[in-house]
Amino acid sequence: MTFEKTILCIGAGYVGGPTMAMIASQCPRCRVTVVDINPERIAAWNSDNLPIYEPGLDELVRATRGRNLFFSTDIEQGIRENEIIFVSVNTPTKSFGLGAGMAADLQYWEKTARQILEFSESSKIVIEKSTLPVKTALAMERILNCQENGIHFDVLSNPEFLAEGTAVRDLEHPDRILIGSRETDNGLKARQTLVDIYASWVPKERILTSNIWSSELSKLVSNAFLAQRISSINAISALCEKAEADVTEVSRAVGMDSRIGPKFLNASIGFGGSCFRKDILNLVYLCRNYGLDVVADYWESVVKINDYQQERFIRNMLGAMFNTLAGKRICLWGFAFKANTGDTRESPAIFIARRLLEEQAEIVVSDPKALGNARTDLTGVRGQIRYVEDPLQAAEGCHAIALLTEWDLYRNLDFPKIFDSMAKPAFIFDGRNILDHRRCFDIGFNVYPVGKPPLTHFLEER
Ligand SMILES: NC(=O)c1ccc[n+]([C@@H]2O[C@H](COP(=O)([O-])OP(=O)(O)OC[C@H]3O[C@@H](n4cnc5c(N)ncnc54)[C@H](O)[C@@H]3O)[C@@H](O)[C@H]2O)c1
Repeated sequence: MTFEKTILCIGAGYVGGPTMAMIASQCPRCRVTVVDINPERIAAWNSDNLPIYEPGLDELVRATRGRNLFFSTDIEQGIRENEIIFVSVNTPTKSFGLGAGMAADLQYWEKTARQILEFSESSKIVIEKSTLPVKTALAMERILNCQENGIHFDVLSNPEFLAEGTAVRDLEHPDRILIGSRETDNGLKARQTLVDIYASWVPKERILTSNIWSSELSKLVSNAFLAQRISSINAISALCEKAEADVTEVSRAVGMDSRIGPKFLNASIGFGGSCFRKDILNLVYLCRNYGLDVVADYWESVVKINDYQQERFIRNMLGAMFNTLAGKRICLWGFAFKANTGDTRESPAIFIARRLLEEQAEIVVSDPKALGNARTDLTGVRGQIRYVEDPLQAAEGCHAIALLTEWDLYRNLDFPKIFDSMAKPAFIFDGRNILDHRRCFDIGFNVYPVGKPPLTHFLEER
């Protein structure tokens, strides 16, 4: 079969894999190849056991793999053979040198640019899919177009807005697709090529085009705004706990204002995931670089509140459990950073697990999809840790349950049975406010939600 377009994606991660599977599914006349330096990842993409869990992803990959979707480790050949190249490699926070702990580490990104230059035998469109600091495309263009050999590269920015846990749905019905380009003849032509690919399934009015710097910046700003809403309601949850207000009632009242809206207003142990923290710190670093310290401080406070919220959760546990956790067994329900994913990157559960172990508690980690990653995250951490997938078995003999991920399965468990199996007094710390707190209290638990008065059987607190 001859294909109309040939597409390569460098980076077979949480973004590259699902995004390319969706393009392959919606554009059968495109041949899509995904390459990665990690051979185990590629082998997993070619197996029945995909490297990431996403609802609907298995079906999507099964329908396209081998037809017009291919996974390979041959990066050189991929670059040579494809005319459109997405770059979706990781861009973690820099851990060394200038900007350590804040700026984006662009080494993987730059390595990819140099590889594209080295192996290209014809002109190409190169698309930034990774989240990058504003003006990265300029560096990409300078590296790619530094040789006078008749090969020309157009660089586009096409940030990805999918959310893990709903990636397939988000890719199929995106709120918007954003494509930034240079506003030159070549830039606009390249932009149109990418618009045409998305227009196969995305309504035209949802495909936004912009100048390339606006596009790069929009992704950072979008994540900063989402995280800022979480930190805003979490800051208010601390006040609710002092003022005997209920944060759920407050967020409902606030969110019904159509100017504000109800989404991302659930108080919790805070945000996690590979993106929010790194992208905000990246934004903060950019602002400081441009001398905008007041703006930088504003956004940095979003991250500070998130750290504060996690520490507050631990302090609330300590305070409720008579100021000592040493020797107590605590079950963690959920380790993934959110429901419906096995991803634990930057999960608040990592911090909470470490802090509980520092307090010399024993922990039992439970999660339906993330136990493998949890083991890796806690490798080398001192203390007693067990991993038990079944939440009932995990809670057996424990002094407390800390609910850390909003998996639906935790809502309707046999709570009387769980209560009977636990040490008394038994505690539930609902870090996601998803349980029926009154019911748990009536069964006998002492219940500590986030941002609401606790429900306890201790006389002095009632
Ligand atoms: N995960 C998300 O929900 C999400 C959403 C939107 C945007 N993003 C952004 O997308 C980018 C990728 O994120 P991710 O979650 O997919 O990361 P990831 O770590 O899951 O995947 C990145 C992949 O790139 C590969 N890689 C690194 N250098 C390479 C090279 N030189 N050649 C070939 N492969 C290479 C790695 O082996 C890895 O498999 C990041 O910039 C991230 O900020 C992520």
